[in-house]
Parts: sequence; C-alpha cells; structure tokens
Amino acid sequence: MATTTTAGAAAFLPERRTLDDLRAAAASCEGCGLYAPATQTVFGEGDPHARLVFVGEQPGDREDRTGRPFVGPAGQLLRSSLREAGIDERTVYITNAVKHFSFVERGKRRIHQTPKRIEIRACGPWLENELAAIRPDLVVALGSTAASTLLGTEFRLTKHRGTVVRSPLAERVVATIHPSAILRTIDEATRAAEIERFVADLRFARETLEAPPAE
Ligand code: URA
Ligand code: SF4
Repeated sequence: MATTTTAGAAAFLPERRTLDDLRAAAASCEGCGLYAPATQTVFGEGDPHARLVFVGEQPGDREDRTGRPFVGPAGQLLRSSLREAGIDERTVYITNAVKHFSFVERGKRRIHQTPKRIEIRACGPWLENELAAIRPDLVVALGSTAASTLLGTEFRLTKHRGTVVRSPLAERVVATIHPSAILRTIDEATRAAEIERFVADLRFARETLEAPPAE
C-alpha cells in the first residue's frame, strides 16, 4: 500500500481558472494517492454556462477507461431520468466530488471503493473551482458523498432530500439519491419506486430553476 502525504489538489491548481484551464491542470493532478492506480483523471463535462450542475461521487470503471463522467450504468440511469424529468442533458454540467476512480482489484475485476474522507478533501479544490467558474443557479448532489462534500458531514440525505439548502460552494443545492444506489436495489418494484422518486427530485430541481428566486 502506498502511503502518500500530499497537500491535495490545491498544489496543482492553475493560475487562470477557466474550466478548460482547470481540466488541463487536473489531468496531471497527484493531490492524493488515487491517481496512481487509476487510468486517468475524469473531469466534469457539459455546458460551461450551465445553470444546473450535477455532482456525483467518483468515476467508476467505465468512466476511468473513457475519461468521461457518468458514461456507465449509473450514467445511463441518470441520463434517462433527466429526460423523463424534462431536463435537456446538453444544458447541464456533470462532475464528481472525486476525479479519480478508487477501486480494489479482485482478479480481473476492479471493485469500486467509496473514497475516503481525506481523498474527498484532497480533491475538493477541483469541484470548488469548477463551481466558481460555472456559477450555476442550482447544484444537485447525487448521493451522500456529494452531499457531504457540498453540505458538510452533518448533512443527512434522509432528512433533507428534495429540499433546497445553501452550501459554501453554491447558493442552492438539492440532494438526492445516487443512481448507483438505485441500481443496487434487488427487487423490481423497489427499483421502479426509487426511479420514480429520483425523477421527482430532478423535476423538483427543474421547477426550482424555473421559479423566480425567493429573495
Ligand atoms: N458514479 C459516479 O458517482 N460518477 C460517475 O461518473 C459514474 C458513476
Ligand atoms: Fe488529484 Fe483528486 Fe485525483 Fe486525488 S482524486 S489525485 S486530488 S484529481
């Protein structure tokens, strides 16, 4: 096991911080130990002027191989749910709290591992600067890793799911379930119900965007 003591992504931030600058710099980030076994950095993608940004946890196997976020099974579910919620995928920006795939090898398979708190923190400057460059009107946190990154570890999805909350990184954040968690449900009926609830949260996000701001 490699033990690395690094200062995190901050040491790799470029001077100019447009999305393109950030993406280029993140490609050679060694801010935590995750870069070494992974194939490549998977930076966010989408409309640089998006009003709506989605934040997942970290790239999975498919994302690691292709270098693009949410292109595997969870991404398929996210994209079909977006369509169902009336959100045009081309108008949003999709990224992750952690930019490298964290996994353990079991034979030929690479099994996803939840990123550690220290890795999430190390990677924070990328997300922070992506959001600063885009300045979206609403951020949707997909699952508890994204939610705790944006809203702190006190945040409980069970309590605040589907409500608009404020984050130091974005004025308005809505947290919902991660599509991978939906895919892990065993029986069909539960899965269908979870998808429906997920789509309802996405629809709520769209309506929140369309509604005039409260203040
Ligand atoms: N799960 C995530 O959280 N992000 C991805 O990019 C893919 C799967
Ligand atoms: Fe850098 Fe984030 Fe990758 Fe760690 S996970 S090496 S902080 S880009």
